Parts: sequence; C-alpha cells; structure tokens
Amino acid sequence: MRFILAKDATDVSQRAYDFIRKSILQNPSLILGLATGSTPLELYKLMISDHKRGNLSYKKVKTINLDEYVGLPEGHPQSYRYFMDNNLFNHIDIDKNNTKVPRGNAINLDKECEEYSSFVSTNRPDIQILGIGSNGHIAFNEPGTSFNSSTHIVKLKDSTIKDNARFFENESEVPQQAITMGIKDIMSAKMIILLATGSSKAEALYRAIKGPITEDCPASILQTHPNTVILGDHTSSFWIRVNREPE
Ligand code: PGA
Repeated sequence: MRFILAKDATDVSQRAYDFIRKSILQNPSLILGLATGSTPLELYKLMISDHKRGNLSYKKVKTINLDEYVGLPEGHPQSYRYFMDNNLFNHIDIDKNNTKVPRGNAINLDKECEEYSSFVSTNRPDIQILGIGSNGHIAFNEPGTSFNSSTHIVKLKDSTIKDNARFFENESEVPQQAITMGIKDIMSAKMIILLATGSSKAEALYRAIKGPITEDCPASILQTHPNTVILGDHTSSFWIRVNREPE
C-alpha cells in the first residue's frame, strides 16, 4: 500500500487521472472499476475535459461499477447508473454496452449478485477507483462485512443513510438496501486507487492505513493488497500527518 499526500481535492483527482490516462494509453482496452459518490466527481470532470480536448479515447475501455441501490426505478436520478451516465459516460466516447453497473432492480437479486461476481472474476479490473466512507466502508461493504464476501445485498447502516441523505429530498427516501461488490471482488483488481478528501474521512483513513486489519474497518484490508495507492488531501490525512490515533 502506497500513501500519497496530495495538496487538495484537485490534486487528488489529477493524480488519479494521471494513473488512468497512462494506463489507457498503454492498454486502450483497459478494464476500469469505477465508484460513485462526491469524491470521484472531479476525477470524472478531468476525464471528460481531457477527452473533449481530443487527448484520450475510451472506445475500447470497459468499466465495472462497485454498487447500486436496491429498488430505485430505472432512470431514477439518484440511481448509480444515472449518476455514471450523467457524470461520465454520456460525455466520453465509451460504448455503453461496455459499462457495467449492478442492476439494483433485477427481479432475482441473488442471481444478479452471483452473475456480477462471476463477471468481475473473469474481467478483473486493471484499476479500481474507490472512495471511503466515514465509517471505513468500501463500496457498500459496511463494518463487519466478511473480507471473503462476494457481490451481495446489504442493509445500509444508519450512518451511511445519513451520509447519503444529502442527495435525496429527505432521509426517508434513501433506499435501505444496496447491491455491492464484495470485498473479495474488490481485492481482485490488479491496482486499487482509493481517493479521500475532507476532514470527515480523516479517522477512517487513519484506521485504514495505520490501524489493525479488521473487518470493523473494511478499508483496512487494502493493507494486504499488492498494488494499492491511497491518495489523500491534507484534511482527510490529518490523523496520518500528526501520526496519532483519533480521539
Ligand atoms: P463520498 O462517498 O465520495 O460521497 O464521500 C464515498 C463512500 O462512501 O465510499
């Protein structure tokens, strides 16, 4: 695991983009694991603007997303499929058939989970972009999730529902369940880039990097991944910089 202290959120995004750009130039058929949430938005803006300048094509790139809410109707503006289409896919030259997001409204969710895990294992992401939750979750793998988990349905923790309520009219509209790649699926990526910005992530980032490897902090498993880069801005890296445990 390599930790890079970036100047600010823009620097975090730029550095992540530099990895992606270099990798796509080397391998135009790259498999890119993508995440939703506010953290990667600036990265996606960089991908779009550089693409519009004619610098990078995504024609052969395949993407695999981490997760999706359960039960939102297709086209719902808070669904992660909608998020990805609007914040990235609609603005680059990617073939939408090559973009995979779990189907949170599949009739048979168990089958969807099984098929998703098997898809990930035969299409291991070359790079997986990750955010981190304020409780240390990665994707929707909440504290306590088995490190051995494959794609599964989760009941969201209250803290995650609260974190995500800002995107909905009110907290009661946030779905209670999600479908998420499991930790084993995420760990199968050849390279993982975790982005963290803002003080609300400081404790989780400290526990992920310096704490014990424990299912209480799902992101701590990344300490065992052979090729993980953590990009943190100054505020999210506060506890790491002062090198003592959060109170
Ligand atoms: P955020 O979410 O980027 O919106 O902070 C990250 C996460 O919960 O994984």
